[in-house]
Amino acid sequence: MLTDNTIKIVKSTVPLLAEAGTVITEHFYKRMFSHNPELKNIFNMTNQAKGKQQFALFNALAAYAQNIDKLAVLKDALERINHKHASLNILPEHYPIVGGHLIATLKELIPDQFTPEVEYAWREAYAVLSDICITEEAALYAHNKNTQGGWSGTRQFEMTNKQQESELVTSFELTPVDGKEVISHKPGQYLGIKIKPDNCQYEQIRQYSISQKANGKNYRISVKKELFPKPGVVSNYLHSLPQGSVVELYPPAGDFYLRDNATPTVLVSAGVGQTPMMAMLETLLSDKHTEKIIYLHACETPKQHSFANDLNELSRLYNRLQTATWFNQGGEGCNYTGLMNLRDLDTELPINNGEFYLCGPVNFMAFIKTQLLDLGVDNSRIHYELFGPHQDL
Ligand SMILES: Cc1cc2nc3c(=O)[nH]c(=O)nc-3n(C[C@H](O)[C@H](O)[C@H](O)COP(=O)(O)OP(=O)(O)OC[C@H]3O[C@@H](n4cnc5c(N)ncnc54)[C@H](O)[C@@H]3O)c2cc1C
Ligand code: HEM
Repeated sequence: MLTDNTIKIVKSTVPLLAEAGTVITEHFYKRMFSHNPELKNIFNMTNQAKGKQQFALFNALAAYAQNIDKLAVLKDALERINHKHASLNILPEHYPIVGGHLIATLKELIPDQFTPEVEYAWREAYAVLSDICITEEAALYAHNKNTQGGWSGTRQFEMTNKQQESELVTSFELTPVDGKEVISHKPGQYLGIKIKPDNCQYEQIRQYSISQKANGKNYRISVKKELFPKPGVVSNYLHSLPQGSVVELYPPAGDFYLRDNATPTVLVSAGVGQTPMMAMLETLLSDKHTEKIIYLHACETPKQHSFANDLNELSRLYNRLQTATWFNQGGEGCNYTGLMNLRDLDTELPINNGEFYLCGPVNFMAFIKTQLLDLGVDNSRIHYELFGPHQDL
């Protein structure tokens, strides 16, 4: 239990954390990786190089300090962090390491503001936050272990099928080497995949959304070959692996999943953001769900249009499914050319009672969210996933 004084002191450091510039964040990560290089096996070092993840931790700590006396406000944000941590197998013993480097960084860089009194308050506050995360993550790990088809840590999966979906995206069917069942994921969730490409000094973990409905036997992920500004480490490595290769997976995780099966549903994606949508779509179609499903997709060219045949076939089979496609550069097979404009649609969106799920580049999702809000969709019915550290739209 934190004292009123501790709460007051921690709150007073909000500006310090929220405005932590690159000097502080870079010092923290540099310090941590030089003292604990083993953590390079867990952190995405490309995100580090791009500075993306560096602010996520400090922003989260600032939000914690701001709301330290009303933690319920942070429920969704914490759930997202805990799921991301679970996909990386973050363990209780990691927390003191991160906390230690955090405190040391602030002491080293801003000794005038980070006085012994402030340090004491933050040690207490960090311990409380760590406990919350450790408890929530322990519950996720216990669920993963005890649920049907479950496991803890990594499990070996064989690439039992490899299918090119478009110019840049290939699907990989991953089947457990032990031949046993797998956890039925919630449609929209992702897997953590751990690999060690020959040319990398450290292990690499990446998340991939599962691109098919749960079947209890295997998973399918669909991976875009990242080429620019330089070849992505894991995506290119996965594309290079022959069928029959073995990779390691952490159990499904993620707080972005189909919430309500009883409402009309609109699935909106761009590029490889289609992957969680395919899992949601297949689930809705095979379920008791009887409401309208609208599947909207944007990509650059016909060659980059993944799952086109599957979607055509599904639209033919199910009247309640309506699809529309935008190719930015136009071409055969699309309904519209240019950016996705929801006012183009000749179908009616369920503005008042539908659930809207978005996945794609952050600018795309921000653009669509603005359109949905303008059309009158309530913010609480717009859900989205980012293929990287979370950002508010
Ligand atoms: C929840 C979630 C779900 C996801 N689902 C999917 C999915 O279904 N399908 C999918 O394809 N991906 C998905 N991703 C993204 C995936 O996890 C990887 O981030 C992606 O495959 C790129 O990994 P990589 O190792 O190939 O590239 P990395 O090596 O991590 O590089 C990432 C990008 O950064 C660029 N880059 C590298 N170094 C620098 C630098 N120094 N400066 C600037 N840019 C640089 C690369 O060119 C590349 O474009 C998901 C991510 C999350 C968080
Ligand atoms: C209370 C302490 C912590 C907080 C507040 C915190 C917060 C966060 C946040 C906000 C993210 C981004 C989530 C997203 O993708 O949206 C994140 C991701 C991550 N966290 Fe933590 N974290 C904490 C502790 C730890 C610890 C102890 C570790 C392990 C050493 C860790 C490792 C990671 C990793 C590896 C990622 C993914 C980032 C990447 O490499 O892309 N975190 N965390």
